Amino acid sequence: MKRPYVVINCAMSADGKIASSSGKQMRISCDEDIKRMYELRNECDAVLVGINTVLSDDPKLTVKEKYVKNPKQPIRIVLDTNCKTPIGSLVVNNLAKTLIISGKQCDKKFSDNVEVIRCGTNKDGVIDLEKLMEILYNKDIKKLMVEGGGTVIWNFLKYGLVDDFYVYVGPMIIGGKDTPTIAGGKKIDENSNLKLVETKTIGPGTLLHYRI
Ligand SMILES: NC(=O)c1ccc[n+]([C@@H]2O[C@H](COP(=O)([O-])OP(=O)(O)OC[C@H]3O[C@@H](n4cnc5c(N)ncnc54)[C@H](OP(=O)(O)O)[C@@H]3O)[C@@H](O)[C@H]2O)c1
Repeated sequence: MKRPYVVINCAMSADGKIASSSGKQMRISCDEDIKRMYELRNECDAVLVGINTVLSDDPKLTVKEKYVKNPKQPIRIVLDTNCKTPIGSLVVNNLAKTLIISGKQCDKKFSDNVEVIRCGTNKDGVIDLEKLMEILYNKDIKKLMVEGGGTVIWNFLKYGLVDDFYVYVGPMIIGGKDTPTIAGGKKIDENSNLKLVETKTIGPGTLLHYRI
């Protein structure tokens, strides 16, 4: 299967949580790591998140000029089976192109920078990632950054669609049995073979770089 090179990037607490116990965005990365994240974003052709991240955090998913001079603004992609992306959400603002990947006909009227792509769903009723990878490859998206949340990361790992995996571990404990974690899904049947290729101290935390 021809597919983009897939890079996961996320930040977690020392106890593996990626948000607050109520599922709200939390500052886990330090400024230096945020700069690294923006540089990585700028290197990629597209940045992808799941609809729950859009609904809970309302991210712009753009590259800030403060961190990268003359950013090229990668395409933003939302996995959104039922077309729930709010018309007023920041991910569809006019600062970059956005693809909404939906499993059904979507009648919402977004502005011209937004394209809704209908893609097949899998047996779990969510977007079929293998089909999506082909669609993105054919759109000349050769390097894709997956930013979360946990359900999306879990699915990319489960279907063996990940090449690089970056985790910034912040020096904090968030706690909470139901607080979102990096790979929030059912057990993955086969162990994904992660190979640690680099560790780096960044500010008060550590960046782990795995290859699969
Ligand atoms: N620390 C970090 O680095 C970081 C980064 C990003 C997000 N977050 C946090 O992550 C949390 C949200 O994570 P989440 O796990 O609840 O949701 P999510 O991964 O953002 O979105 C999951 C949803 O995406 C849709 N989807 C469609 N196709 C999918 C597919 N093939 N695989 C997976 N999902 C698919 C599904 O909803 P439909 O069926 O409705 O389409 C699914 O429920 C928030 O608390 C956010 O703050 C943290």
